Amino acid sequence: MKPKVLVTREVFDDVLAYLAGFFEVASNQADLPMDRETLVRNLAGMSGVMTTLVDRVDADLLAVCPTLKAVCNIAVGFNNIDLAACARAGVMVTNTPGVLDDSTADFTWALILATARRVVESDAHLRAGQWQGWYLKQFLGTDVHHATLGILGMGRIGRKVARRAAGFDMTVLYHNARQASAEVERACNATFVSKEALLAQADILCLHVPYTPETHHIIGRPELAMMKPGAILINAARGGVVDDAALVKALAGGPLAGAGLDVFENEPALNPALVALANVVLTPHIASSSAATRHGMAMLAAHNLVAALTTGKPPNLLNPEYRQT
Ligand code: DGY
Repeated sequence: MKPKVLVTREVFDDVLAYLAGFFEVASNQADLPMDRETLVRNLAGMSGVMTTLVDRVDADLLAVCPTLKAVCNIAVGFNNIDLAACARAGVMVTNTPGVLDDSTADFTWALILATARRVVESDAHLRAGQWQGWYLKQFLGTDVHHATLGILGMGRIGRKVARRAAGFDMTVLYHNARQASAEVERACNATFVSKEALLAQADILCLHVPYTPETHHIIGRPELAMMKPGAILINAARGGVVDDAALVKALAGGPLAGAGLDVFENEPALNPALVALANVVLTPHIASSSAATRHGMAMLAAHNLVAALTTGKPPNLLNPEYRQT
């Protein structure tokens, strides 16, 4: 008998077909969000699950899902999963690194340009029938070319964002828990600085850190106060990395000129004060959402699930210590 697996949200048909070659697959092609109770009910008897970042996997869930052996997240971020609890329960956890780097970096640039050059605001102006014709001081934006780009978090995605800055003749500064190698710095034309210097010098600050207890509100009131007057903040990493309430204040009263945000604290709920601001570009957590990349993420999660349950060695294992438990 084939092991049973659950796919918690809609995925591409060929991904399900691939899984069906190895497993008895229960899928959610209707794409109905599962609350905790529904998720637990659907996980009964399952050996593995393909989750998304909205499915919370913690000790309480694991306690009532004793057959579970693998949790394969369709995301590079895994703050929805308690890795230690999974390890204790002997459950493998995987993510989808690499496949989304370029698309996420591209989208970060979409946010940079849309925010700096007021694309969304001026589009809304036209659609509302308010355009009376050309005039000199209309929608004056911020130049991206020759500006200083600051990158907080120089992992795979941060590096891709940095490399794209070359075409805009930018100065690139970065801060990271550990300084990158000289080779990476050369390839990215990026200079390592302290977090304080990054905040003080960046015209455009992009966040590319994972969400952990250490990075919770890594950009809060004190950090925002250190930023340049007229600076722009871009967050396509995770909600919670930025204190949204403090951000509202920094956008309304300075020092920030604008923000481009793909992720939010408590998403999908939005801070209404943020929504009311014209100098913010808001998108619904779609930085990785090109057709090819979302397909690649789902297929990589499926490969992880197959490897986890057939060999015990999934390529993107996050908690190798699960074995010792
Ligand atoms: C990720 O992979 O963590 C992204 O946020 C998904 O969109």
